[in-house]
Parts: sequence; structure tokens; C-alpha cells
Amino acid sequence: MATSSPSAIRTLLLVTAVAIGAAAVITVAYEFSRERIATNERARVLANLRGVTATLTDSERLTPTQLRLSVIGEPADPNSVFAMRDENDAVHALIYSVSAPDGYNGAINLLVGVSLSGTVTGVRVVSHRETPGLGDAIETGKSNWLEQFTGKGLKDPQHWAVEKDNGPFDSLTGATVTPRAVVAAINRALTFHAQHSEKLLTDAEHGGDETDD
Ligand SMILES: Cc1cc2nc3c(=O)[nH]c(=O)nc-3n(C[C@H](O)[C@H](O)[C@H](O)COP(=O)(O)O)c2cc1C
Repeated sequence: MATSSPSAIRTLLLVTAVAIGAAAVITVAYEFSRERIATNERARVLANLRGVTATLTDSERLTPTQLRLSVIGEPADPNSVFAMRDENDAVHALIYSVSAPDGYNGAINLLVGVSLSGTVTGVRVVSHRETPGLGDAIETGKSNWLEQFTGKGLKDPQHWAVEKDNGPFDSLTGATVTPRAVVAAINRALTFHAQHSEKLLTDAEHGGDETDD
């Protein structure tokens, strides 16, 4: 039987040590960047909260608080929910942070503001990877495409779809995949609101807030 020479064992140990070291570096770098991405995403959410309810009367006097999402159940449900309150703590709108997993280049993360009567007060894209010049017109700074959703509710329109799919919502030139994903995500936020806003508001009244932002 062949025996291993000391130099072969040394090489093997060296290769193993290098592999373990590289794996450790990659793990630490991954954890670090994951945390940084989450922090940046959260900052973008907070920066966009006010814009989503800017269409409400006296919106400047409203301040956001994050609610505990005790009703979460489905993967497509919102990641988080915020209440916009006035100085007497009365809630004027709920804002849902939702993800559209079916964007052209991956997930599109959105904030959808919904009034207590169930209509959209505004929508903002928090992050996306859609193609510049095609799908990226969903950004408020690049076009007013998102404005068409303001004032819409679950029953108005009846058919939540882009024109190409016989719905009322404008598509983007040369890009239907992105608008479809956004329309569906807003619709899901409105459905969640219809099903759960009562409980969320009751929780909020009884100290269900997570943080003050
Ligand atoms: C390089 C490249 C990038 C594209 N980026 C997008 C995009 O970001 N969003 C989008 O909706 N469509 C994008 N499209 C176009 C889609 O492939 C598709 O043709 C378009 O959305 C129309 O879809 P429809 O035929 O289902 O209406 C891109 C196409 C190419 C070739």
C-alpha cells in the first residue's frame, strides 16, 4: 500500500487551511453585505413613506409608525406595514411594503399607501433591477406612470390588469412584464388591506406599534 510522503501531507493541510480561510472570509463578507443591504433598503422605505400619502389632505401633519404584522401568513403578504397618524394618534392611512417577485429582472419592492376607505393614496418603488430605458419607468423620478393608481380601489377597476391584458392600466413602451408585476403587487396589497386592516387598526390602538420612525 502506498504511504503518503510528509510533503504531500503538508500540501494537503495547506490546501485545506486555505479553503477554510477562504470560506470564512466569504461568509463574513456575505453577512456584512447582507446587513448593509437590509439597512439601505430600510432607509429607502423610510424615505419614501411620506411620498406615498402625499395625496391625502393635510398629509404634512401625518407621521408614520410601524405596526406589528401579527396577521402575516402567506409568502406574498406585505413584509411590513406602517400607520400614518395625525397629532391625535388617529390613523389616516396604512402603508404596505410589498414585493413583486415577477419583475423582468427579479423582485420589485414597493410601498403602497391605502386610505381607510380602501383606495390607493400613492405608490413608490423602493428598489428594483428592471432594465434602464424599459422597465425602469416605474420609478417616480423617471415617469409619472405610478400616478395612475392613485384613487383606485379593489372594485374600481373590476379588472386589475394592464391594457394589453384587457385592463385599464397603461403599459410602458416595449415593456409589459414590469407593469404586470407592479399591477399584481398593488392588487395584492389592496386585497390584504381589505382582509386585515380592521385587525391591524385594532392592534395599533392597543399599543401594537413596533417602532416610531
Ligand atoms: C435586453 C432586454 C431587456 C428587457 N427589459 C425589460 C424590462 O425591464 N421590463 C419589461 O417589461 N420588459 C423588458 N423587456 C421586453 C420583454 O422581453 C417583453 O418583450 C415585453 O415586456 C413585452 O411583453 P409581452 O409580449 O408579454 O407584452 C426586455 C427585453 C430585452 C431584450
